[in-house]
Amino acid sequence: MKRGEIAIKSVFSRRNRFIVYCMVEKIDALLQEIEQLAPANPEALESARVKYLGKKGVIAALMEDFRSVPPEQKREMGQRLNELKTKATEKVRTLKEQFESQAVSDVKIDLSRTAYPVPLGARHPISIVKEEICDIFKRLGFSIAEGPEVEDDWHVFSSLNFADDHPARDMQDTFFVQNDPQIVLRTHTSSVQTRVMEKTSPPIRIICPGRVYRNEAISYRAHCFFHQVEALYIDEEVSFADLKQALLFFAKEMFGEGTQIRLRPSYFPFTEPSAEMDISCNLCAGKGCPFCKHSGWVEILGCGMVDPNVLENCGIDPTVYSGYALGMGIERVTNLKYQVKDLRMFSENDVRFLEQFQSAH
Ligand code: DAH
Repeated sequence: MKRGEIAIKSVFSRRNRFIVYCMVEKIDALLQEIEQLAPANPEALESARVKYLGKKGVIAALMEDFRSVPPEQKREMGQRLNELKTKATEKVRTLKEQFESQAVSDVKIDLSRTAYPVPLGARHPISIVKEEICDIFKRLGFSIAEGPEVEDDWHVFSSLNFADDHPARDMQDTFFVQNDPQIVLRTHTSSVQTRVMEKTSPPIRIICPGRVYRNEAISYRAHCFFHQVEALYIDEEVSFADLKQALLFFAKEMFGEGTQIRLRPSYFPFTEPSAEMDISCNLCAGKGCPFCKHSGWVEILGCGMVDPNVLENCGIDPTVYSGYALGMGIERVTNLKYQVKDLRMFSENDVRFLEQFQSAH
């Protein structure tokens, strides 16, 4: 090696030693600075991060200086620089977390604010109408009575004066449970009448809502299950005039003050005399429309004076007591009130259909 080269080399190495010296000083100072870093807000933290860790930040500048570090010191300086970078990154991260958790706890909770509106469900139209029918009769002093849906032949048929060969007992109509002709799914709620009469002595004034079953092909106008409400009033000297009065009250309450009723003679095994009640069509006010088949009247329920045989079957003396009974289909009344043309809608659980029904109940 020539003399000149040695001189240059020694100048370089002196300069490099100086750089190393400066770097060590800087790193120590920065370590302290970063240790004591206490930015007032997230913005100040961000500028500190850029200052130390940014692309053009102090640590990046030190990395530049690192190139000039003499090889024998590279290892040590490298370690120091890494330590500085890790410390800075760690510090920025913890400070950032602190600001974030502070931001969450700083959210002011207004406990007096009204809650978000919860969408209200709707009641099933059958339930709405059932409640409405029961409410009207409750105002006349009737109370609710219920009975089983799986019934015996006695309560559904025999006690109610159905002859053994009555067509209603037919396989076509009645669901028998486990092929036992004595156990049936009740075909009407009149079975609750006899259950109550057997156990209670008059006066009896009950209203019996419930589900009934009939073995019918399902169509828009028939279903294998539907709902009925039955009413029964037994006391001394109950007359057909009492029945008529109750029916008129019910019709006006249910369908409006202007509603008229009409009674047509009919036949049921458990009532004598029996009648069917029509109301003036509430769509055309009795003028005649397709809904009432242009007659101005629509049929709504069956009724009559309780047959003395039925009273006797249930242990009530027909020479002392008399009574009236009536029964109606809830689906039928709902159709009249809401003009639902297809019975199947009631059991399809289509929310778009169901949520149209709002009720105060
Ligand atoms: N049980 C009858 C039916 O299902 C309805 C009925 C008619 C009930 C006349 C009664 C009544 O109480 O008196 O068709």
